[in-house]
Amino acid sequence: MSSKIETLSGYFHDYQKSIVNPHRFWSRIAENSHWREKWTKVVEHDFKKLSIKWFIDGKLNITENIFEKNLFIFGDKPAIIWEANDPNEKGVTLSYRELFIEVCKFSNVLLKHGIKKGDRVILYMPMIPEAAIAMLACARIGAVHSIVFAGFSAQSLAERINDCDAKMVLTSDGNYRGAKVIPVKDVVDEALKQCSSVNKVIVVKRTKTEVTMKAHQDLWWHEEISEVSDVNIAETMDSEDLLFILYTSGSTGKPKGVVHTTGGYMVYTKYTFENVFQYSQGDVYWCTADIGWITGHSYIIYGPLLAGATTLMFEGIPTYPDAGRFWEIVDKYKVNQFYTAPTAIRALQTHGIEPVLKHSLASLKVLGSVGEPINEEAWHWYHDHIGKGRCPIVDTWWQTETGGIMLSPIAGVTPTKPAYATLPMPGILPVILDNDGVELIGNSVEGNLCIQFPWPSMIRTIYGDHKRCFETYFSQFPGYYFSGDGVKRDEDGYYRILGRVDDVINVSGHRLGTAEVENAINEHPLVVESAVVGFAHDIKGQGIYAYVICDMTNRSEASLNLEIREMVSNMIGPLAKPDIIQFVPDLPKTRSGKIMRRILRKIAENDTSNLGDTSTLLNPEVVDAIIKSVNKK
Ligand code: WTA
Repeated sequence: MSSKIETLSGYFHDYQKSIVNPHRFWSRIAENSHWREKWTKVVEHDFKKLSIKWFIDGKLNITENIFEKNLFIFGDKPAIIWEANDPNEKGVTLSYRELFIEVCKFSNVLLKHGIKKGDRVILYMPMIPEAAIAMLACARIGAVHSIVFAGFSAQSLAERINDCDAKMVLTSDGNYRGAKVIPVKDVVDEALKQCSSVNKVIVVKRTKTEVTMKAHQDLWWHEEISEVSDVNIAETMDSEDLLFILYTSGSTGKPKGVVHTTGGYMVYTKYTFENVFQYSQGDVYWCTADIGWITGHSYIIYGPLLAGATTLMFEGIPTYPDAGRFWEIVDKYKVNQFYTAPTAIRALQTHGIEPVLKHSLASLKVLGSVGEPINEEAWHWYHDHIGKGRCPIVDTWWQTETGGIMLSPIAGVTPTKPAYATLPMPGILPVILDNDGVELIGNSVEGNLCIQFPWPSMIRTIYGDHKRCFETYFSQFPGYYFSGDGVKRDEDGYYRILGRVDDVINVSGHRLGTAEVENAINEHPLVVESAVVGFAHDIKGQGIYAYVICDMTNRSEASLNLEIREMVSNMIGPLAKPDIIQFVPDLPKTRSGKIMRRILRKIAENDTSNLGDTSTLLNPEVVDAIIKSVNKK
């Protein structure tokens, strides 16, 4: 059975079927994949005890569904087209057959070094084909990959390695990012000083940066791969065996290891990829995300490769060597579907349309947006100048925890509306609850976005902390998955995401917990206390505004500012550096000692006309003092 939605009535029809009988609906879709043993039951769930299982007792290997199943049909078709950071460096194209051989070889390397089913392997790698090969090799032997975005600090990397007790780290000597070379192996060396579980590090030679190779621990990828067989039989995985862990920030505490399992994730990412982007065989699809984020997992690697698509992987950044780089690549490879983040669109928008007009962009059929709300101005620019008014924009709302796209137009099928993620995917039951947990029925309502019924690729647990998973997503509104986002359902029943309702900020499409940034700021020896909030930023979507109480004796604001920013960069990574640091004498607090972020958010947004009731504060006078110090600046 084809599961492709082709018309709006087809969508409505499938949506109804998926709601009336989800077991039957998902069963039919899952039958398109290859299972070594078929499931005995489609889904079993209990959101109150937090137990979610899909395709129960099903046995499979996700890479067998990418390779063995596809080779007869797509063997010589390009699987990955890789474009280097430097436009003058020749790219690499790997057909499904060639990629398969590399994955088998690297699977054998992992096995040779004692990595077994269930072991955790950390990837701290640039966007190079070896990163895709490593992910798939882990999946093939049943090891659990956990990719850490290569812009995170040694400290953040070490925390993640320790949290999941990883046995191996895969990295490169260096990482090209525009005109810069980042010595990533050094970061790994630094991190490993704090980790005892890792016994092997495999290093890809990419930038020829000089590195120290530790005896009995560090190995070169190219040497290892040259010594193994290219035959590998995929491990048999249970549908609910772990596929990967991906760390993401929440409103409290340290980043959480979101766990995804094998069968449901496979079924859902393939289904949503094929439908949302309306991929047709022969198309070239390009998602500009980094594999360190969920978008890279689901829609550069797994979804497209399961669908037998050609997926483009780009090592560089949108503005190197100039702001026309994305469009040059679109023309070079005749890209048909292009998927990026609003922050990239807004950043390119500031360069005007000149760099766009140098390229034809005639191959484009579908444009996608992900990671943060897309403002109407950026939506129109994308639609008019990149899509030339003829490409539908799929504004896809989803999360690390959801594994796949939840709300989105189906390209060319669902009529779009600027800044709206429009309608749910089949199988997804969004509900809007008010703060008391009462469901808001009907249209023209606004509230907390929750999901009522499980879907195949949803989070199963937080690695090592099932209780935290329950508390974070399933306790606030019992019986529902709570996304942490606010949403509006308009008069047409279309959904528009309003942004986070918790203490998570979204900076250039990257999630950060305010507590995480505060903890890093508080590491500075002169900092007494801090409070971090987001504020509207023209390019990044949200910027980071830090209110800091600091012992300023004999110190200048400017030097402390620099030191604190450096501190945050070292503790988390450059992406978490505050945009604005405001030194304040005190922070507004409730009588129970809680920081009133609502007030701080308003001051950061320069919206001080209506701060609400401040009389219940422990220290109402501090609000005026803060406003005065802002005005002074
Ligand atoms: C936000 C990225 C508005 C949202 C796939 C969510 C969006 C968080 C959209 C998840 C969108 C993602 N419109 N907001 N189309 N897509 N978000 O885990 O706040 O990195 O909760 O997953 O990004 O970010 P994450």
